[in-house]
Amino acid sequence: MTSETLWYANRATGAVCLILFTVVVLLGIAVRLRTRLPGLPRFGTIRLHRTLSLSATAFLALHITTAIVDSYVNITFVDVLVPFVSDYQPLWLGLGTVAFDLMLAVVLTSLLRHRMGHRAWRATHWLAYASWPFALIHGAGIGTDTGTDWMTWLTIVCAATVLAAAGTRIRTREGAHP
Ligand code: HEM
Repeated sequence: MTSETLWYANRATGAVCLILFTVVVLLGIAVRLRTRLPGLPRFGTIRLHRTLSLSATAFLALHITTAIVDSYVNITFVDVLVPFVSDYQPLWLGLGTVAFDLMLAVVLTSLLRHRMGHRAWRATHWLAYASWPFALIHGAGIGTDTGTDWMTWLTIVCAATVLAAAGTRIRTREGAHP
């Protein structure tokens, strides 16, 4: 695979990750607020939230792999786990690394959920909210497509929908996460 193909793949998977993680956060809020999505039973919303979070993680793995394998810029495995140490765009890449570390904690604790207490699991799950803005700012700061119409609109729509849903979530403090 040429460096150019890897670079396009990195950009494409970055945009897909942003969309998927945004939908995952929105679905998580919908689950918490016990919102029934049109045409879906309540357990369908929970299942969609779980399935999409695993798909988002798979795309994130591709996004990271293409960044490492692409030899045009030097991004190492350490840069993926330790924020702000990379030679390439340390600040913007570091914010992506913070997002990744937080999401890793959320995904791993969700997979081990049956082995840990509900309180501990829920506390870790809050990290998903913290992770998402880091990912959004990472993409806006480092992306080649930043400034294009489609990426500007994508970023605005993602930010607006999550802010609106989080606002509703803060106003409706009831029910427990299943
Ligand atoms: C949840 C975590 C992450 C999300 C949602 C995300 C999303 C994005 C987005 C939306 C872009 C802009 C793509 C474009 O301009 O079309 C981007 C760019 C990029 N990301 Fe990430 N990213 C994440 C984590 C990471 C991590 C951990 C790394 C690697 C260490 C990384 C490496 C890169 C690189 C190198 C670019 C620049 C691509 C270019 O030159 O345009 N990202 N990311």
